[in-house]
Amino acid sequence: MNELDSLVVAAQAEFSGARTPADLENAKALFLGKAGKITELMKGLAALPVDQKKTRGASINEAKQAIEVALVERRQALADAELAVQLKAEALDVSLPGRRVPTGGLHPVSLTLERIEGIFGSMGFEVAQGPEIETDWFNFTALNTPEDHPARSMHDTFYVKGGSSDAPLLLRTHTSPMQIRHAVQHVKRYRASLDADMGMPEIRVIAPGRTYRVDSDATHSPMFHQCEGLWIGEAVSFKDLKVVFTDFCRTFFESEDLVLRFRPSFFPFTEPSAEVDIQFQSGPLSGRWLEVAGSGQVHPNVVRNMGLDPEKYIGFAFGMGPDRLTMLRYGVNDLRLFFDGDLRFLSQFQ
Ligand code: PHE
Repeated sequence: MNELDSLVVAAQAEFSGARTPADLENAKALFLGKAGKITELMKGLAALPVDQKKTRGASINEAKQAIEVALVERRQALADAELAVQLKAEALDVSLPGRRVPTGGLHPVSLTLERIEGIFGSMGFEVAQGPEIETDWFNFTALNTPEDHPARSMHDTFYVKGGSSDAPLLLRTHTSPMQIRHAVQHVKRYRASLDADMGMPEIRVIAPGRTYRVDSDATHSPMFHQCEGLWIGEAVSFKDLKVVFTDFCRTFFESEDLVLRFRPSFFPFTEPSAEVDIQFQSGPLSGRWLEVAGSGQVHPNVVRNMGLDPEKYIGFAFGMGPDRLTMLRYGVNDLRLFFDGDLRFLSQFQ
């Protein structure tokens, strides 16, 4: 091996030994830099006789090129290795499943309210909403509930500051005040027609919402839901109540053979009044009578408080408990589960 070949071999070895691009640039300087071996050899050419200069120069150039090739190869190898390390460090497993964002869902009682609205909507009932803080007038007086009625006692109801002595405020104890509120709006809208003795479209409405009573156990909660129903017209009878409510219950529970019982009862704002009981013919509750609503023909005094002539307008009302309907539909036996906010329970309804 001549001196130039050994120089090329030495350069290749030096380059191979370089572990980083910086090492490699230092190694390059040893051979190709201004003070490097090749440059030195080039300088030596000057001292040679003309005839040797050419061949010697060509040989040195060959060696220089071989060294440059080795340098470029090593540079590429180091760059490849660096890229490989980086790719490995930044590796992404695109086959990993994504992280799920938990989605919310409707509360079981909300699902029931939607169901109720859907069924009554299909029977032509509007949906009305009203205030949870009520006046004594709408909650009791307008509903034919006298001053000394036990339901008006401080112990039975949550009274709220801010009312006056002749207009106390309270958390509504039922959705029945919506009978008056909605009917009064309806009558106002058709006032001109009524005054001209041309009548008005029937009132057909349901009013779902929160209600409050001083009551708390496995089947009563101080806050609970009710859904009021009201149908007033010129010839709406108790028979219509039975048809509408039976249809509703059978559709709600998806049970065609469900049996209803209208059990005589008393409410100040209906006369006659009835509690509605249902009986399943199959399933775990089969054979038991289960109370689901209060109902009755709207009392003439209430019709009058709606701004209508009780000689001409008649109808029925009912008030049911969506919480209880939810318990029956899903087989839940403790009402408090609905209001504890425990996701292990609530997520089962999604
Ligand atoms: N408001 C009554 C209650 O809360 C239920 C009811 C509504 C009864 C409408 C008759 C008519 O118990």
